[in-house]
Amino acid sequence: MSATPSTTVPSAPPLLELENITASYGDLQALFGITLRVNAGEIVTLIGANGAGKTTTLRVISGIKQAAGGALRFAGKDVSRVPAHEMVARGVSHVPEGRQVFPFMTVRENLSLGAYTPRARGHMKQSLEEQLTLFPRLAERMDQLAGTLSGGEQQMVAIARGLMAQPKLLLLDEPSLGLAPKVVDEVFEKIQEVRRKGITMLIVEQNVVSGLSISDRGYVVQNGTILMEDSAKNLLTNAMVRAAYLGL
Ligand SMILES: Nc1ncnc2c1ncn2[C@@H]1O[C@H](COP(=O)(O)OP(=O)(O)OP(=O)(O)O)[C@@H](O)[C@H]1O
Ligand SMILES: [Mg+2]
Repeated sequence: MSATPSTTVPSAPPLLELENITASYGDLQALFGITLRVNAGEIVTLIGANGAGKTTTLRVISGIKQAAGGALRFAGKDVSRVPAHEMVARGVSHVPEGRQVFPFMTVRENLSLGAYTPRARGHMKQSLEEQLTLFPRLAERMDQLAGTLSGGEQQMVAIARGLMAQPKLLLLDEPSLGLAPKVVDEVFEKIQEVRRKGITMLIVEQNVVSGLSISDRGYVVQNGTILMEDSAKNLLTNAMVRAAYLGL
């Protein structure tokens, strides 16, 4: 007899998987077992109080910070020990908290720095054109020092710089922080345009309503663990989420 055929169609593995990830800064343990997944094509948002471990989670994913324990898989491969520059080459771009554009470099130079992997360098010209189509306002400011841009424009530079690496997964840490409401809306519209390009995103967002409104799913991070996971729609109507994070 031949092997029994499988009756279930295997579903594609998640693009990103964290299983029981722990991490510490010296004696201070920040993550106590983070388990989450992001499927290809999704936007997933992490919400949680200050110090909950959201940024640390993103840092572990992008290889900036090494996990102390647990498993990290990207595109079906174990990447627990893969350094940050190699994660960029594999398709993970991290747009950090506070944007961190290089203030004394021009917009053009900031964007070029995003394309430092050999793969991205080869497509630099086309990639730059794509970013300027997405962010036309940057096209007018290519030779301006990034530090002289408005907060919203600097966020656009930070996102565009991340996209220059041609990522499969874009990590966005607090993209709306410190921006005026109108600019926040603009940033979230751009994030949706990025999704339409087929780029998967994991977003940390303190602007819970805006973040969840454009997301498929979300996780609530509390004290370095996942307190809750659900569809973004359910989280937005969840009584605990509304009381704790929306003040409703
Ligand atoms: N570089 C660091 N050195 C030491 N401790 C750190 C460092 N970065 C973060 N921590 C600590 O780790 C814990 C988690 O911090 P993390 O920055 O991941 O939280 P967060 O959820 O992103 O918070 P926020 O909403 O304020 O950005 C906190 O207790 C924080 O004080
Ligand atoms: Mg943070």
